[in-house]
Amino acid sequence: MSDAIRFEDQVVIVTGAGGGLGRAHALLFARQGAKVVVNDLGGSTHGEGANASAADKVVEEIRAFGGTAVANHDSVTDGDKIVQTALDHFGRIDVLVNNAGILRDKSFHKMEDADWDLVYRVHVEGAYKTTHAAWPHLREQNFGRVIFTSSTSGIYGNFGQSNYGMAKLGLYGLTRTLAIEGRKNNILVNAIAPTGATRMTEGLIPPQVFEQLKPELVSPLVVYLGSAACQDTGGLFEVGGGWVGKVRWERSLGAGFDPKAGFSPEDVAAQWQRICDFEGAAHPADNVEALKEMMAHLQKYTL
Ligand code: NAI
Repeated sequence: MSDAIRFEDQVVIVTGAGGGLGRAHALLFARQGAKVVVNDLGGSTHGEGANASAADKVVEEIRAFGGTAVANHDSVTDGDKIVQTALDHFGRIDVLVNNAGILRDKSFHKMEDADWDLVYRVHVEGAYKTTHAAWPHLREQNFGRVIFTSSTSGIYGNFGQSNYGMAKLGLYGLTRTLAIEGRKNNILVNAIAPTGATRMTEGLIPPQVFEQLKPELVSPLVVYLGSAACQDTGGLFEVGGGWVGKVRWERSLGAGFDPKAGFSPEDVAAQWQRICDFEGAAHPADNVEALKEMMAHLQKYTL
């Protein structure tokens, strides 16, 4: 049995916590002793409108079981205001869960600039603004945990979600770099690709499966990633229905061509099978490891 994971005296911001996955994360953090900022603009799944009651209700739920929480109704695109709420009420910020999100699904040929821009703004700019405002405080105290919410639609692609997939994989790119920059200040940064029964996925998942994908079955991973117990950084985890797995990049051993003589498109065609063969594939963990194969190849021709 592992030690209890507790957050006494720690402050957690969960964005988009007025419903769905964010609500479940906020409730679990509060049950584990955290002071929680419940952020939610209270708009529609398409990013329209606003309603303060979404965040307020979750704060009431937390207070009802003796937990500590405060509501914030700003958009994540004004992330500095959300961080300010944490500082004004609790004097610090330890954990940030970037969870707020919307959908504007359309096949690419029907995509309008407004659909592309709004999805980018909420997911990418919103996560950037909130994290950027929290970052100096996390650096200063030499402790922080940041979780980004990616998606299998970003990792694998999904019909009608070019805007959403772009944003969600972008968040993983952000995760990887912040993990590198944050490490020396004990700021660990991870991403999840969740599956949960929420208004966002209602009607998209068959009802008998939908019933089993309770949002509460995603939150234990998020709370673990938000804790001091977690020492992993830069990870991407698929999670849902009580199952958790880690995702990583894989690259084939590739094919080499003489860099001095150059090579033709026909040479590429001739080696295509080898280029795409994942037998014995490499799993580079960083840029240096990623470049090793190419450098070794070059060395063969410079000796
Ligand atoms: P949801 O629609 O139930 O919750 C999203 C919340 O974010 C809503 O309460 C909404 O009011 C809030 N929100 C939207 N725009 C905001 C803004 N500008 N500022 C502040 N709050 C805002 O959806 P769900 O499913 O709980 O989604 C949570 C996150 O998980 C999203 O980032 C979503 O893209 C991601 N996700 C969910 C999956 C699922 O299976 N439910 C699958 C993959 C990713």
